[in-house]
Amino acid sequence: MAPANHSVFLCFSIFLIILLNSRPGIAQNRPVYACDTSSNPGLKNFSFCDPSLDVTTRVDDLVSRLTLQEKIGWLVNAAKDFPQVILTAATFNESLFETIGKVVSTEARAMYNVGLAGLTFWSPNVNIFRDPRWGRGQETPGEDPLLSGKYGAAYVRGLQQTDDGDKDKLKVAACCKHYTAYDVDNWKGIQRYTFNALVTQQDLDDTFQPPFKSCVIDGNVASVMCSYNQVNGKPTCGDPDLLSGVIRGQWKLNGYIVTDCDSLNEMFNSQHYTKTAEETAALAMNSGLDLNCGDFLSKNAQSAVNKGLLNETVINKAVSNNFATMMRLGFFNGDPTKQLYGNLGPKDVCTTANQELAREVARQGIVLLKNAKGSLPLSPTAIKTLAVIGPNANVTHTISSRRDQESSRRGDAVVLVMGSDQSIERESLDRVDITLPGQQKLLISEVANVSKGPVILVIMSGGGMDIQFAKDDPKISSILWVGFPGEAGGAAIAM
Ligand SMILES: *[C@@H]1O[C@H](CO)[C@@H](O)[C@H](O)[C@H]1NC(C)=O
Ligand SMILES: *[C@@H]1O[C@H](CO)[C@@H](O)[C@H](O)[C@H]1NC(C)=O
Ligand SMILES: *[C@@H]1O[C@H](CO)[C@@H](O)[C@H](O)[C@H]1NC(C)=O
Ligand SMILES: *[C@@H]1O[C@H](CO)[C@@H](O)[C@H](O)[C@H]1NC(C)=O
Ligand SMILES: *[C@@H]1O[C@H](CO)[C@@H](O)[C@H](O)[C@H]1NC(C)=O
Repeated sequence: MAPANHSVFLCFSIFLIILLNSRPGIAQNRPVYACDTSSNPGLKNFSFCDPSLDVTTRVDDLVSRLTLQEKIGWLVNAAKDFPQVILTAATFNESLFETIGKVVSTEARAMYNVGLAGLTFWSPNVNIFRDPRWGRGQETPGEDPLLSGKYGAAYVRGLQQTDDGDKDKLKVAACCKHYTAYDVDNWKGIQRYTFNALVTQQDLDDTFQPPFKSCVIDGNVASVMCSYNQVNGKPTCGDPDLLSGVIRGQWKLNGYIVTDCDSLNEMFNSQHYTKTAEETAALAMNSGLDLNCGDFLSKNAQSAVNKGLLNETVINKAVSNNFATMMRLGFFNGDPTKQLYGNLGPKDVCTTANQELAREVARQGIVLLKNAKGSLPLSPTAIKTLAVIGPNANVTHTISSRRDQESSRRGDAVVLVMGSDQSIERESLDRVDITLPGQQKLLISEVANVSKGPVILVIMSGGGMDIQFAKDDPKISSILWVGFPGEAGGAAIAM
């Protein structure tokens, strides 16, 4: 479950993802703000505290006031997040993606104002879900580069754009991750930390890069996270072509590039890509990295400078990118409650409208894969008893409450709720095949065989499942795929 300080945070996301046991994500969980000129008027003398100046001038002023050691302290950050979107993407509704982002950022601002949240979101995950066995595929918008790009850009716009239309401002800072060609976690002993994805330039350009490109160019995302894996023999966080060359050079990122958590440590200690820790730090920074999730740079950047592998110009550029993002978020504008969105608070979290939107997402995302004549929608007059069967059946309160009293397994219609859960597919756990877990296939066929009325198969899953047998079985009248829809999904399925 979510840790206590996140438990009320992002009710909206929780509705979509709570059954995944995921943590609504924020990269910083303490409210940071500087330049409170009302309690300390002398601060007005610092240009970096002056919201009327442009971001570059303010950042330059701030950086000029820091020692090298202080700057190195701004190269690191420690946190993660894990949002899930596969069902949302299945709505194919671009305006809905943006609306969701907007609701999430409003709730984030509300919680930030009362000190319960940060404003840096390391989401969305726009990796291409090419291998259906990948446990984290559920976090992504799926396998299609075009849809993933549209999702990424729209969601990012919803999260980031302020209502006053000022492009220099950020409502929250999003992060498109994990760059790039990452879709294995832990498959038959192959770990993401050391995996080397061999990808042709064409596949990179056609498949893996488009969502990131779209995030940066169409979404104007404030951050991109490089992944753990290598691409064609080079760790992504230490590849100058992929970072400086593509993200900053070709796509013109306005923001910062961050490592996945501890990935510099993996690059050095697991991949043995570099000979010393200082070389690792220097390689990453010189490749275009700005921020390190973890403490690798705080431990090794200074000695990399001392050894002449890294210079302060590169460090200045990195901290400037990080500070510019904080500036745009308003961290240097003083008391957040006196700024745009300063009036938001707990009353704006988990509103009825937001709950209804979560249900709407589930309704639009659920996919009807098969529907024989006379099956769905069930007729309330013809169907007096409804049997609900399956390991996932208890999740759908709305449906189970309709079933006939607590002993009969056979009704006028049968709903079989099957599929997977977080014990089968999740971060750090890939599947080895795409068949239904355990004895589900047998159970489904046997139940269908003895049923009199419509048999409705509901598949809960993040990744694809091979259900050809059910498609071919004439006794199974309908098949629905529902992702991991959460509480809102029960109501949505019932409708
Ligand atoms: C701020 O600047 C003004 C005018 O230059 C000066 O009189 C004042 O002492 C400064 N305040 C601080 C705290 O430095
Ligand atoms: C997208 O979602 C919105 C909000 O629910 C809805 O009004 C709109 O009709 C949907 N668009 C499509 C193309 O389904
Ligand atoms: C700092 O290092 C970068 C990357 O190696 C190099 O391009 C640049 O010329 C160096 N700058 C200075 C002032 O040494
Ligand atoms: C079903 O869910 C309810 C509410 O979450 C719970 O109290 C109950 O123990 C569950 N039953 C089973 C069989 O898991
Ligand atoms: C279906 O039921 C019939 C009659 O009871 C039985 O002969 C047959 O083996 C069953 N088929 C399956 C797939 O369970």
